[in-house]
Amino acid sequence: MKEETNYWKINNPTTGDEYIQLASELLKQGEVVAFPTETVYGLGADARNQEAVAKIFKAKGRPSDNPLIVHVANREQMKQYVTQIPDVAHRLIERFTPGPLTIILESNQTLAKNVTAGLSTVGIRIPDHPVALALLQACNLPLAAPSANQSGKPSPTTANHVYEDLNGRIAALLDGGPTSVGVESTVIDCTGEIPVILRPGGITKEDIESLIGPVMVDPGLADESLRPRSPGMKYTHYAPEVPLYLVQGDAQAIQNQIDAFQQKGKKVAVIVSKEYADQLVAPDIQMVGSRNHLEEVARHLYDALRHFKEQDFDVILCESFPYDGVGQAIMNRLTKAATKQIG
Ligand code: TXA
Ligand code: MG
Repeated sequence: MKEETNYWKINNPTTGDEYIQLASELLKQGEVVAFPTETVYGLGADARNQEAVAKIFKAKGRPSDNPLIVHVANREQMKQYVTQIPDVAHRLIERFTPGPLTIILESNQTLAKNVTAGLSTVGIRIPDHPVALALLQACNLPLAAPSANQSGKPSPTTANHVYEDLNGRIAALLDGGPTSVGVESTVIDCTGEIPVILRPGGITKEDIESLIGPVMVDPGLADESLRPRSPGMKYTHYAPEVPLYLVQGDAQAIQNQIDAFQQKGKKVAVIVSKEYADQLVAPDIQMVGSRNHLEEVARHLYDALRHFKEQDFDVILCESFPYDGVGQAIMNRLTKAATKQIG
């Protein structure tokens, strides 16, 4: 298919909206549609339809052993695809959904096999976004939806990012404006004795622990030599077009690196907080918000990673952020995006 993708701007999301209806029809016919969630844009298809799900993998160029998250409209629907909901999962669902939390549970094998890449478990979430919810209600289907980027690139936080990556490869794109969280959902495995965070994201470890007590974090997240339990975490991810160096240290450390690269004749771009930006002398600075408001940094991060094009720059230098709260997710993504860590 090399047809143009239908680009539909949603101004007033309701199930009766003309474009929500059209998108819903496409999904029922087994087509793929990109839509906004509160975290990043997703690329959705009917999770019960194997052929429809196969189109997601094809459009993104995604490895088929990487399972997809299933999106549903409400808590009732979450129950339909799992064998049981353990008590901790129940409490997490009550508190954090709709919201940026994906819960891994034992699948009852009613969804298409390629959604879960053959695993016995399934990841499910209820997105907290009016367009996503209106679409889920209108089509009344579970929607398998990974982030709507070309595999390997940073996830899309605007409709324009999706259009750049997937125009002509998907049936439709719903534009609901920029997403508010900016990094993907937290993935937590609730199938074992103690819940395990497989991917840090929009709901923080602190948030989770204040509700259910201590949880584990997949050791594979910190140690590259271990095999991560979340299959998706092992692939190259979030990579900008220009090599990114993650700089440890303060604004002065970054300035030293800028100067050193410039002396070698390199064209340097910088991604930093506004506090660091105020102290730097550099030609091309992308500010991502305040170091004291990491939610703001998360919201702007992927747009900054996509901002610099390879014909214009040799290297991106990026600040290291604190690991507090959503800082865990920010640093997880930046470490994966980085060619190396310096300073
Ligand atoms: O915020 C989000 O989660 C976004 C929006 C669109 O909802 N979606 C998203 O999907 O980030 P994706 O496919 O880009 O990332 C899904 C992650 C991958 O790391 C995958 O390996 C993991 O979730 N995952 C999915 N099902 C799993 C399962 N059954 N067991 C372990 N990990 C799983
Ligand atoms: Mg993704």
